[in-house]
Amino acid sequence: MNELTPDITRYGNKSYVRAVHGTQFADMPQYVEYIKRAGEDVPWTAAERGTHRPTNKPLPYEYYLDPKYVPDEIEKIWKKVWQVACREEDIPNVGDRVSYEVGPLSFLIVRSGENEFKAFWNSCRHRGRRLCGDKPESGDMIQCPFHAWSYDLNGKLTWVPRWEEFEQATPKNYSLRPVQCDTWGGNVFINPDLEAGPLSDAMGVMPQHFADCPQEDRYTAAHIKKKVKINWKSGLEAFLEGYHVLTTHPSGMPIFGSTYTQTDCWDDGKASVSRLITPALIPDGWVQNDISARVSLDLFCNTYGLPLAPEGVGETLAEARAYAAEKTVEVHKANTGVDFTGRPISYLVDMHQWFMFPAFFPWWGEGLSWWYNFTPLGDSPDECIMEIRWLRPLAKGAPRPPKVETVWVDFHEQGRDYPETGQVGYIMDEDMENMEEVHRGMKAADPGAARPILATEQEIRIRHFHEAYMRAMGIEL
Ligand code: FES
Ligand SMILES: [Fe+2]
Repeated sequence: MNELTPDITRYGNKSYVRAVHGTQFADMPQYVEYIKRAGEDVPWTAAERGTHRPTNKPLPYEYYLDPKYVPDEIEKIWKKVWQVACREEDIPNVGDRVSYEVGPLSFLIVRSGENEFKAFWNSCRHRGRRLCGDKPESGDMIQCPFHAWSYDLNGKLTWVPRWEEFEQATPKNYSLRPVQCDTWGGNVFINPDLEAGPLSDAMGVMPQHFADCPQEDRYTAAHIKKKVKINWKSGLEAFLEGYHVLTTHPSGMPIFGSTYTQTDCWDDGKASVSRLITPALIPDGWVQNDISARVSLDLFCNTYGLPLAPEGVGETLAEARAYAAEKTVEVHKANTGVDFTGRPISYLVDMHQWFMFPAFFPWWGEGLSWWYNFTPLGDSPDECIMEIRWLRPLAKGAPRPPKVETVWVDFHEQGRDYPETGQVGYIMDEDMENMEEVHRGMKAADPGAARPILATEQEIRIRHFHEAYMRAMGIEL
């Protein structure tokens, strides 16, 4: 194979993976250590390590499978925690609204003022009809389609047909029931518990780390909702680690060094947040002897739509990363008008993925500027929705592009069935191949051994998720 015409299919071929069977690494530094060894500046955000060491009490499979835990999760988690409901750009104009569904619960989120959002239980006070349906709605009045009870954007009951027949139905007593609503980084969060502390309590160190990567200066360029036959917890756990890259995403191994992934957890008893960082342009440890810096660079450029480096450029790791960062800045400037000059290479090319309990994944930097969230579907422990966004940067003062349509991908469908989902859809498909099989395999486990075992570093964020879950649920194992 000519080094300058890399053949990515070689790495998408799972038989190749068997070639590394038996390999172990004598020295596998985590991200910050590796970047330092490479002589590169480490951004302070990456250098600031999470020191929380979660307990090692893996959650037994019954919590993923048995419907008897679903009502408990609704009461103790979904009715009690801050959770992301939508993005501000989903409801760009005053009066725009969407529903946010989590399990059997439904909430109505409305832009009630230029920069003001409100959220309510999505249920008419007359006889309970869901007020906002699956499609976004709009208008200066929230009118129930059943008997026309009407509410203003603050949820106040403004009109009841034949009002004289409803003596108790005063605006004071029969307005929409609010839930807490707050925003961070262009994301709209809700918490149904009116007694709960503020959103900032649930975010811990996250806002500080995102200060130089403002999520509000972004817009949703692609929006996917994928229905998946797996419990919401094991669905999201597949995204809390890079350990699965070896067999699930071998095609990414020449570009992303998942073996160098750094994991960090923070927990102060109120906020449970964690992060993983995986370097780009550093071939994965599993292929480190097969992939040169230049091949890695060419594949990266192809993947990100950057111009290929001239011959002789990018032969070393440092050069390859510098070239990719420089071109990333140029392409962003040309395409989005945003100038990232002076940003650390790490900010521009590496993967920095955050997690906020219970199910929200914001990403930091430009390497992969994604956004994930997981929600259970209905009352079933067997189904969930993975929501994925691609968030592109927006230049200060630039008009927001028109809202994108949400692409619904059904259980049996793939991201690649919807070309508009692009690369996000393709990588999602690779992850989805495991999902249903994980759920079925959990059911197939010997009841005497129906719980996972979790790695000390690579899967520490899952340990942390289990710890936070058990704390919220009041489970002692
Ligand atoms: S249920 Fe809404 S008006 Fe009757
Ligand atoms: Fe994955």
